[in-house]
Amino acid sequence: MINDMQDWLTEARQRIDLQLDLALGAHLGQSRLVEAARYSVLASGKRLRPALVYAAAEAAGAPVAHADSSAIAVELLHAYSLIHDDLPAMDDDALRRGQPTTHLAFDEATAILAGDALQALAFEILARDDGRSAETRIHQVRLLGQAVGFQGMALGQAMDLESEGAQLDLDALKAMHSRKTGALITASILMGAAAGESFEPDAMSGLTEAGEAIGLAFQIQDDILDVTATTESMGKEQGRDQLLLKSTFPKLLGLEGSREAALALVEKAHRALERVPGRTDYLKGLATQSVERTH
Ligand code: IPE
Ligand code: IPE
Ligand code: MG
Ligand code: MG
Ligand code: MG
Repeated sequence: MINDMQDWLTEARQRIDLQLDLALGAHLGQSRLVEAARYSVLASGKRLRPALVYAAAEAAGAPVAHADSSAIAVELLHAYSLIHDDLPAMDDDALRRGQPTTHLAFDEATAILAGDALQALAFEILARDDGRSAETRIHQVRLLGQAVGFQGMALGQAMDLESEGAQLDLDALKAMHSRKTGALITASILMGAAAGESFEPDAMSGLTEAGEAIGLAFQIQDDILDVTATTESMGKEQGRDQLLLKSTFPKLLGLEGSREAALALVEKAHRALERVPGRTDYLKGLATQSVERTH
């Protein structure tokens, strides 16, 4: 099972890397903007969100070719969010994925515009005709839009910046993270499942619950790693987040308490996935990995 999971994940990562390379291919022309986008997107990320798309598509019995557009879209969207997150006006970070952040490798204006263009490309690719029904495509466009806009990631980022210097309680911290990180993670699962065009409402609610639990578990582990991992292994500087003494799970729950909370959320995700028919073991494996990861 573990080996099977690792093999599957390696294959999923190879598939998405190829898809991303094609999505940002020569048809976009040659420009500094495209160069900056390729620099950010093709850097070595964990590809968790595309993997969740493929795992959910597998559970839903969808052809993998029908999951590609969603996998590409969520990773392009994620890459855009990272470029903007690192900007001086936001976290002002110098390193991302082990290399200089996009605004340092290029310049601020190019970084902003590369992010803008990546977001647009994500929706364009999601809408493309690749054999999915028009209904499915529209549904997926809406899922992604809702996850990253005024009620999702952008709101979460705004809440994060507004909370600088303040001490959030546990509920407020969870509310922020469920938007900032959780919404796109949950959407990745729902978009993958939508490619199958088969699930009943109870299965979809099981997937949503699992997505929310995985998103939060992933964020708790992110906070734990910020405390425990070395700068080198993170490929990230102890940036403004640390300086501003932001609210984190380890601060509110302690390191051990945070680990327990993350494990409990993985359990919760696994239980929610019991309500989903089809092959859910890759989703379960990804839930487990979200807290076992070391970077
Ligand atoms: C980093 O996301 C930012 C958060 C939302 C916590 P990931 O940890 O998924 O980053 P990559 O894609 O692997 O670089
Ligand atoms: C990034 O959150 C979240 C998004 C880009 C939406 P963080 O600012 O906590 O992530 P890192 O620590 O820079 O990866
Ligand atoms: Mg941030
Ligand atoms: Mg940041
Ligand atoms: Mg962080």
